[in-house]
Amino acid sequence: METIQPQDGTYQLTDYSKVRENFDWEQTKEAFTWNKTGKVNIAYETIDRHVEEGNGGKTALLYSDAKREESFTFEELKLKTNQAAHMFKNMGISKGERVFIFMPRSPELYVALLGAVKAGAVVGPLFEAFMQDAVRARLEDSEATAIVTTPDLVSRIPHNDLPSLNKIIIAGESDLIGSEEKFVSFDENLKEASTDDSAIEWVDLEDGFILHYTSGSTGKPKGVYHVHHAMLQHYQTAKWVLDLKEDDIYWCTADPGWVTGTSYGIFGPWLNGVTNVVRGGRFSPDDWYGTIDKYNVSVWYSAPTAFRMLMAAPAEVLEKHDLSSLRHILSVGEPLNPEVVKWGWEKFNLRIHDTWWMTETGAMLICNYPSEPVKPGSMGKPIPGVEAAIIDDQGNELPRNEMGNLAIKAGWPAQMRKIWNNEAKFNEYFAIEGWYVSGDTAYQDEDGYFWFQGRNDDVIMTAGERVGPFEIESKLLEHPAVAEAGVIGKPDEIRGHIIKAFIAVNSGYEENDELIADIQKFIKTELAAHAVPKEIEFKDNLPKTRSGKIMRRVLKAWELDEPTGDLSTMDDN
Ligand code: PRX
Repeated sequence: METIQPQDGTYQLTDYSKVRENFDWEQTKEAFTWNKTGKVNIAYETIDRHVEEGNGGKTALLYSDAKREESFTFEELKLKTNQAAHMFKNMGISKGERVFIFMPRSPELYVALLGAVKAGAVVGPLFEAFMQDAVRARLEDSEATAIVTTPDLVSRIPHNDLPSLNKIIIAGESDLIGSEEKFVSFDENLKEASTDDSAIEWVDLEDGFILHYTSGSTGKPKGVYHVHHAMLQHYQTAKWVLDLKEDDIYWCTADPGWVTGTSYGIFGPWLNGVTNVVRGGRFSPDDWYGTIDKYNVSVWYSAPTAFRMLMAAPAEVLEKHDLSSLRHILSVGEPLNPEVVKWGWEKFNLRIHDTWWMTETGAMLICNYPSEPVKPGSMGKPIPGVEAAIIDDQGNELPRNEMGNLAIKAGWPAQMRKIWNNEAKFNEYFAIEGWYVSGDTAYQDEDGYFWFQGRNDDVIMTAGERVGPFEIESKLLEHPAVAEAGVIGKPDEIRGHIIKAFIAVNSGYEENDELIADIQKFIKTELAAHAVPKEIEFKDNLPKTRSGKIMRRVLKAWELDEPTGDLSTMDDN
């Protein structure tokens, strides 16, 4: 597909190559209250600032799911998040403590999360599909002191094994409330708390506000730690790339359990004072198109897997709905195939703008802008204030059109400040002096556009979610039938990749469909539904290095029928 030129009429066509020439992040600071007061809290800037500026009556949140439908103004969210901040402080939670949020999308989730940030805590959002072991790993590593959850999810918190966890705050009715001192009611405590703003903790730009756990190819999930400073980039990219205007109705489909759902499901839009749609429940084409139709969504941020699922839905589903309110569509999380861009162009008469970034980067870095031509299949160009390059393993910049490591000049505002409890891991990203090395491979073309080529580690992106093979392999080994396990991503038309496990079974077990189903169920109930290997293949032996490490690249080569490459480190016994 050819380059698609900017469309007139719908976007704010700022020329970002011009902005880039003399842009400096200091300029962005002027948008914020703390520029005048010297006092910082990202949650205050996200909500309260708009009230102070006279926009308290504007709708901030349009929430709905199959059972509920509610809307909240900025004023209402200000008061509720103040109450939540008081609630946490009344419980003795102080600055820097880790407070987890483990709930399905609901207004309470947003109130709890922003309230905890107002109180100066570092919030850890957990995806609702996590099962006990996934929850345990994250609470243990971060030594969380409190968690907000729901009656349906509370049983997945192994509280007896977590000595630091002294408050389990349940939103909704539960017999557990009051059964032990640590089980308390969210609703009651919120109701009783003051709405004044004295619970807001004023912090430094470099103080932490969020800890997003994400997967790598080895080891346990890592806690990626971000600081209030990130707001500069959330705000600025939401303006430049999401192109948000005062009267937009914006919908980011990501759950706050993942970084897209916080950086651009909470902070980006609200720092810009825009009305934000949150739709609870699961994906269905009818429901999603219905959400755009119902709320007249104008700016829509989603992911390639969702677009591909919508593409595969029967035409009537789309035809049933009026989607003419849409003016800007964006994508993140996986390569956006040109076919999807073509589909968007045909169905909505709009370009789909790809954006590239990571949990670790905190905010968008390489993007397609409304003002510039889109080359379908390309991630676009770095935002003003950010420098990206393709470098070799020694840190030399490679010529245009040569594939190498996608790296960013270290020091952008939303960059992670540490990996919780793991300095060595953090340092690995910055091992090449002056650069953050992403783990993605890409090339840059003659016009400066970046083209994603793949991961250069074993991290699996499935349906836009990032899963680490190691966590799944470790869990598989706990199943009594499994002797050895190796997990890879297998290319899939809809989901980008699916999870495939190669398994050697212990003697006495039969390799059959029943065992496959049992292993899948085991992962689903112990770890998470999205970590379940869709395919399981039995092998007598798995390829291993002499030190016993499963060679996933050999498994991948087998799967794809490709040459296995250098096998000199393989143990051939
Ligand atoms: O491989 C890249 C892929 O997602 C990884 C980061 O995953 P996560 O931290 O979960 O963040 C996802 C959303 C911010 C990257 O290393 N990725 C992200 N965006 C793109 C992408 N791959 C191709 N194209 C993109 N636009």
